Amino acid sequence: MPSSPIFMLLCIAALTAALLTVAAPLESRQISGDFQCNLNRLLIITDLNDLQTTLTTLSAEASDASTNATIQGIQTDITGAQTAIGVILQALVNGQDAPGDARDQVGGNLTLAQAPLLSLNFTDPVAEANVIKAQTQFNNSILAANGVLQNCN
Ligand SMILES: *[C@@H]1O[C@H](CO)[C@@H](O)[C@H](O)[C@H]1NC(C)=O
Ligand SMILES: *[C@@H]1O[C@H](CO)[C@@H](O)[C@H](O)[C@H]1NC(C)=O
Ligand SMILES: *[C@@H]1O[C@H](CO)[C@@H](O)[C@H](O)[C@H]1NC(C)=O
Ligand SMILES: *[C@@H]1O[C@H](CO)[C@@H](O)[C@H](O)[C@H]1NC(C)=O
Repeated sequence: MPSSPIFMLLCIAALTAALLTVAAPLESRQISGDFQCNLNRLLIITDLNDLQTTLTTLSAEASDASTNATIQGIQTDITGAQTAIGVILQALVNGQDAPGDARDQVGGNLTLAQAPLLSLNFTDPVAEANVIKAQTQFNNSILAANGVLQNCN
């Protein structure tokens, strides 16, 4: 199980610092862009964190080892995306540009997770509701990631 709460705290601390750093040169032209950008950064962190929680629940509801392995593979990819986001936030805290390879790793890991996540299928209605929940959280994180690409330049 990934250390989601700790990651979350680190990210919130990093994000807060990043927000403060970014807020320093107050150019009015940038304010609304910065707001959208930081909102999308916050959303991708919370969406991926919520997704990990849902996947852990689903894993406990899995009735066969192969489904479990698929879920664990998805969790590994999401953890990879979270790690790369942490690298980006650290760079921002240090006043550096987001490294391009970390950006690619966020997209690469989300792409890896997508097909297996969309293929999950449970007969148990409670578990299937969690599948839909996980897919919704994943789709929301993609929207947030696209928002970051669009608004954080
Ligand atoms: C799937 O993994 C979870 C823990 O991640 C475990 O609780 C559950 O028993 C496993 N189910 C099967 C069928 O392997
Ligand atoms: C997934 O993330 C990890 C760690 O951030 C990274 O090393 C790996 O290259 C990423 N995978 C892809 C396909 O981008
Ligand atoms: C889930 O599996 C059932 C039975 O195998 C199938 O009828 C249904 O189309 C599948 N749904 C998805 C979303 O793959
Ligand atoms: C998530 O997005 C995929 C395609 O991008 C779509 O097929 C799927 O229905 C969406 N799922 C939910 C729950 O929004």
